[in-house]
Amino acid sequence: MISVSREDAVAVVTVDRQDALNALDLPTLTELRDRLLELRDDGDVRIVVLTGAGERAFIAGADIKYMSGLDVDGAQAWGDLGHNCAQLLETMPKVSIAAVNGFALGGGCELALACDLRYASTRAKFGQPEVNLAVIPGWGGTQRLARVCGLGVAKDLVLTGRVIDAEEALRIGLVSTLCEPDELLDRVLATARELGAKSPLALAAAKAAVNHSLQGDHVENLTGEAERFADLFASEDQKEGMAAFIEKRDATFTGR
Ligand code: CAA
Repeated sequence: MISVSREDAVAVVTVDRQDALNALDLPTLTELRDRLLELRDDGDVRIVVLTGAGERAFIAGADIKYMSGLDVDGAQAWGDLGHNCAQLLETMPKVSIAAVNGFALGGGCELALACDLRYASTRAKFGQPEVNLAVIPGWGGTQRLARVCGLGVAKDLVLTGRVIDAEEALRIGLVSTLCEPDELLDRVLATARELGAKSPLALAAAKAAVNHSLQGDHVENLTGEAERFADLFASEDQKEGMAAFIEKRDATFTGR
């Protein structure tokens, strides 16, 4: 099951299928997609955190028992559903943060890669072991791992299927921050609150602009950045942010 808890502008989405190390079967992945759609459209939510229940796993991947019975059409639909979830995390106009508390394998690593920020417990383990099942990453791993960590790292992990520890994940840039296991969620929530106090308009524009950086035409993307930058000058938040700096006080952003 998927649970969603809320604290002000921060929503924490928890995958809870601990008997299967939070592997995602069809009902769980469908529920995840539905919750992410709701959060994308919820104007009160500014930051979405994705994590796994229990101490062992973030998400140990797509459910292999479910996948073992799929034919080609079923696998296409299954891949599409996973891609929907990853794209929601990647493109929703609010910041998504993966709090990786344990195994993030296969589809789990792919959903973490789709988030804007990745924090991990020192006990976390990452990998794209699909090749060992005679398939390949199917929810974006071949593309996003190369974008986040570079082609060499992506080929190493995707072709060998090897599982790496949290220290290596930090070293190769797969995660930005490591925390002690019992401190992970507090650290992520502190970051989420900090981001939740910034202008959601600026965060959404920044996310969209950076998302374009490795796609399409460079010059068009630079033009797009300039337009997004200029558009923000129509917002009350821009006036407030700059006035607060000049008046030496904290800014209060409304998202207008
Ligand atoms: N799918 C279904 N069940 C899973 C699972 C998965 N991805 N990962 C773990 N489980 C289940 C196990 O079958 C086991 O259930 P039972 O007790 O009913 O047998 C339970 O979770 C506990 O797992 P283990 O007994 O295996 O625990 P362990 O500590 O010995 O090993 C592990 C942990 C190394 C993570 C191991 O479970 C493992 O290798 N899991 C599979 C990881 C994997 O290959 N993930 C990628 C899936 S493919 C994919 O995700 C495709 C895609 O791109 C979309």
